Amino acid sequence: MINNQFAKDVDAGLSTFPKKLSSKYFYDDAGDKIFQKIMAMPSYYVTKAEYQVLEQRSDEIVAQLNVTNHLNIYELGAGDGTKTILLLKALTKANINFTYYPIDISADVLDTCEDNVKAALPSAKVEKLNYTYDEAMSQIHSEENETNLIVFLGSNLGNLYHSDAIAFLKKIQGNLGAEDWLMMGLDKMKNPATILAAYNDEDGITQGFNLNILHRMNSELGGNFDVSKFTHWPVYNPESGTCTSYLVSAEKQEVRVNGKTYTIAKAESIHTEISQKYNRPIINWLCKMSGLTLEQIYTDEKEYFLECLVKRV
Ligand code: AVI
Repeated sequence: MINNQFAKDVDAGLSTFPKKLSSKYFYDDAGDKIFQKIMAMPSYYVTKAEYQVLEQRSDEIVAQLNVTNHLNIYELGAGDGTKTILLLKALTKANINFTYYPIDISADVLDTCEDNVKAALPSAKVEKLNYTYDEAMSQIHSEENETNLIVFLGSNLGNLYHSDAIAFLKKIQGNLGAEDWLMMGLDKMKNPATILAAYNDEDGITQGFNLNILHRMNSELGGNFDVSKFTHWPVYNPESGTCTSYLVSAEKQEVRVNGKTYTIAKAESIHTEISQKYNRPIINWLCKMSGLTLEQIYTDEKEYFLECLVKRV
């Protein structure tokens, strides 16, 4: 019997009704690779829209930050740094001294990020923080004569329910000084067809991403899921702005995971992910609930994506 957090969460999620698994378990090596493919898909507008915002508006963002001293940039889930480099270039152009602290649980990802930043900006100061978000949060401290900017891109907040998002934002808030900033990128509510297409590509890439959680249970928890007996099913609710993904069972099945048997009924679903979409009132509400205030929003030409500059109240 394996007794780690993954095993515990899987057991709890498959024993409850409706069944659920957390999307944080999508991201093993295979999941990371599939996510790279998703970001390159034409239908997954999210990454491209945020890139465009940063490409076109970074100078304005830098001006709004109004930094007169040293800037520490802490990026939660930095990835390969492609989008952040646009901001770092604008800071360099504005002669602002900065240290970039990319935070990621993957050491490999951090190495790639550092290489990319150094290739674009050879003199940039980069200090890798190989931590979880929670661990990294305790590393963030305000020195005198320094400003901190916490960066959280890619609409990653959208993978949390509002209650969890507020708890997370409160933690960030607790680490912000009066002059510090949070920059968070959030996917905007838009035509439901556009949103649904981003999570339902014809090539089955997103389906593979969703199904990867079954592969992971098979390889890490001795599971015997027959992946072909599940369908990827995303739905978008335009009222709440929540895109929810499920795996739906094609038939009644008995599945063994980590030495325990679970019964899955024909057409029963397993909830695997939410990707929340936002508008200004929702963002204002989230900020208010977290002791934060929304100072400025920057968007792309199609107004698909919202890059938000936020301060402590
Ligand atoms: C990482 N996260 C913001 C992505 C999203 O859009 O929710 C993950 C993803 N899931 C399916 N496609 C992309």
